Amino acid sequence: MAVVFVGISVNATYGTFIRAIKEDIFLKWNGSNYLGVVWPGNVSFPDFLNPRAAEFWAREIAAFRRTLPVDGLWIDMNEISNFVDPPPLNALDDPPYRIDNSGVRRPINNKTVPASAVHYGGVAEYDAHNLFGFLEARATHDALLRDTGRRPFVLSRSTFVGSGRYTAHWTGDNFATWDDLRYSINTMLSFGLFGIPMIGADICGFGGNTTEELCSRWIQLGAFYPFSRDHSAIGTVRRELYLWESVARSARKALGLRYRLLPYLYTLMYEAHTTGAPIARPLFFSYPGDVATYGIDRQFLLGRGVLVSPVLEPGATTVTAYFPAGRWFSLYDFSLAVATKTGKRVTLPAPADTVNVHVAGGNILPLQQPALTSSRVRQSVVHLLVALAEDGTATGDLFLDDGESPEMVGARSRWSQIKFSGATESGGSVVRVRSHVVHDSYAPSRTMVIAKVVLMGLRSPAPPKGFAVNANGVQTYRFAYSRL
Ligand SMILES: *[C@@H]1O[C@H](CO)[C@@H](O)[C@H](O)[C@H]1NC(C)=O
Ligand SMILES: *[C@@H]1O[C@H](CO)[C@@H](O)[C@H](O)[C@H]1NC(C)=O
Ligand SMILES: *[C@@H]1O[C@H](CO)[C@@H](O)[C@H](O)[C@H]1NC(C)=O
Ligand SMILES: *[C@@H]1O[C@H](CO)[C@@H](O)[C@H](O)[C@H]1NC(C)=O
Ligand SMILES: *[C@@H]1O[C@H](CO)[C@@H](O)[C@H](O)[C@H]1NC(C)=O
Repeated sequence: MAVVFVGISVNATYGTFIRAIKEDIFLKWNGSNYLGVVWPGNVSFPDFLNPRAAEFWAREIAAFRRTLPVDGLWIDMNEISNFVDPPPLNALDDPPYRIDNSGVRRPINNKTVPASAVHYGGVAEYDAHNLFGFLEARATHDALLRDTGRRPFVLSRSTFVGSGRYTAHWTGDNFATWDDLRYSINTMLSFGLFGIPMIGADICGFGGNTTEELCSRWIQLGAFYPFSRDHSAIGTVRRELYLWESVARSARKALGLRYRLLPYLYTLMYEAHTTGAPIARPLFFSYPGDVATYGIDRQFLLGRGVLVSPVLEPGATTVTAYFPAGRWFSLYDFSLAVATKTGKRVTLPAPADTVNVHVAGGNILPLQQPALTSSRVRQSVVHLLVALAEDGTATGDLFLDDGESPEMVGARSRWSQIKFSGATESGGSVVRVRSHVVHDSYAPSRTMVIAKVVLMGLRSPAPPKGFAVNANGVQTYRFAYSRL
């Protein structure tokens, strides 16, 4: 992935600038191209309201990819961010109100392009400001798609309604503080509800110097952001996870679980794509009847039933978490951690290297094996975790495709979807797990093997008399009990 700052260096020997001038695609102000200052120094900005700008952008991206064939592009500073405060030109630059920006009431032109700047078709920046990042994301997405023929990965700092169609998002310049660790949860959940499911915050904090303990707790939470990355500001202490043994231990444990959950997370991406449901969800999404969930902003769900309850304070060795009605099983040792008829708060151990992650009874999770890359994970065997609800049933599903075709579902897409169900029969003495192939136009290049089925929540302490997968009794199986 490469980072792209939207301001183009004003430089008579720079090919991209020369071509932009020739195409006349820059944003205008007071009769000429608007001149701002960003990382390269003096810059002008492509005007993405101009259809020629998207064409220009696509050609430049294709040319860049011939030098450096990146898979994705991170488009930054696209609010548009500017290092100078433009002087007022007309009334648009000085409206009779102030806007909140970084917690301060600042003039409208503060550190951005002037509201009096003029886009294609005579549209004032005053009216188009919030569309810029959206339009750049769309142009970048389309440019990558045209050049690669594969599903683009775009990460944008500026977003608007509809951006989730084209780009992932991170929450911008946060700080290495315990408060910002906590706020990352409600920000992530909000963006999921805004239709941008691929969302995360800078792990360990961007601005300011992080600490070992903060970074350790942050990766424990951040491993479960849909978009998970560690990043920092220039001039701050380094925060690669391997710099501290304790942080590396946390990261191996939390990221190991993330990678095992990849088939589940990918199935949630399919769900987000087809239904709009977020990947990371507030608890009320699954438990709308439980008013106690409405205010919870220190925990979240991945999909329907994986509950993440991170530590958000320094010095803590326990976490007090809310569990809605049902049975909750640890995703580390599969033990029954909590069973409640009405929902309750429970204080759980949270050792320095561990984040609490539970699955609700009633869910079946497809897991694969941890590896250093997601493509290696895709080649590993599948384990089915069957977490039985109180009534002895569970359901889940799995979406499969090649991971890079432009569309997940559609007339020309190849994809498969399998629904799983689990039930106990004959008073609990027989367990049956069924799979039902709903769609099957994609087959992985290596056969996917379900190597293990883990049953959680069997009622009897004695092994069931029978175990069946679909219509077939399983001849050889071994029951290993793990109990609370
Ligand atoms: C202009 O670009 C050239 C390379 O094309 C570079 O060597 C030079 O430093 C740039 N000048 C400025 C003022 O950025
Ligand atoms: C940037 O633009 C300003 C205003 O036109 C000019 O005075 C300055 O010399 C330019 N800086 C560079 C490095 O070209
Ligand atoms: C706008 O352009 C005019 C004509 O070149 C110039 O006189 C004026 O100073 C410019 N205004 C600003 C705010 O730069
Ligand atoms: C922009 O905002 C900053 C922070 O509030 C302030 O210091 C600065 O004076 C503002 N610039 C202008 C031109 O008002
Ligand atoms: C962060 O640490 C660096 C290097 O030790 C130091 O120069 C800088 O002042 C620190 N920044 C803050 C905000 O404490």
